[in-house]
Amino acid sequence: MKSKIVIDVIALIPEIILPIIEDGVVSRAHDRSLFELRFWNPRDYSLDNHHTVDARPFGGGPGMVMMYEPLKKAFDAIEAFRGSRGYRIYMSPQGGLFRQSMARSLVEETHLVILCGRYEGVDQRIIDHEIDLELSIGDYVLSGGELAAAVVIDAIVRLIPDAMSNEASHLNDSFSEGDLLDHPHYTRPREINGLKVPEVLFSGDHQKIAMWRQEQAHQKTILRKKRS
Ligand code: ADE
Repeated sequence: MKSKIVIDVIALIPEIILPIIEDGVVSRAHDRSLFELRFWNPRDYSLDNHHTVDARPFGGGPGMVMMYEPLKKAFDAIEAFRGSRGYRIYMSPQGGLFRQSMARSLVEETHLVILCGRYEGVDQRIIDHEIDLELSIGDYVLSGGELAAAVVIDAIVRLIPDAMSNEASHLNDSFSEGDLLDHPHYTRPREINGLKVPEVLFSGDHQKIAMWRQEQAHQKTILRKKRS
């Protein structure tokens, strides 16, 4: 059996990420120790009594930049604590787009370290020398990497074998087969306000149902591609 996945997160505001382990699939996986999550605050590794972690950018310009030293020390502390460097991800709008295929490959790792930036970002020397992968969750700018990290952690953890109560349930997810979206779902009641569930779902013919679902998934995928 694969050893449990350890996720270390370097973040100034861990409170933004914590709710994912308070409810739902990720929380249950956490309670069952299917993964370990630990937060590391760069302020604990700052060089001064004010716990400063940011400074004005060289060359001028607006905002502040997270400094090299507190982040490097946080990475070093994680490495010393775990005895492993970990696969290091930096959440940033400049990164490659996070996709389901990436979640599937990251769940195979045993040790992930996720760096969340704030302000205008982090000193480029951290990215160049400490980071293995820069990831964006979409083409918009968040106030910090914490929300993005929460998204990535959720997407990874639900893929851990045993994380979902119905083990096969993520096999039908959108994108589980290439870029195909999920099919529509219906549940009780069979009719409400004149709205009916498609008859095929009551046919008892599993092959027919599977074919209908696949067809619906294809149509949805094509429609969304046209819209975007
Ligand atoms: N930090 C700020 N915006 C982000 C985004 N879109 N994706 C990942 N990290 C971010």
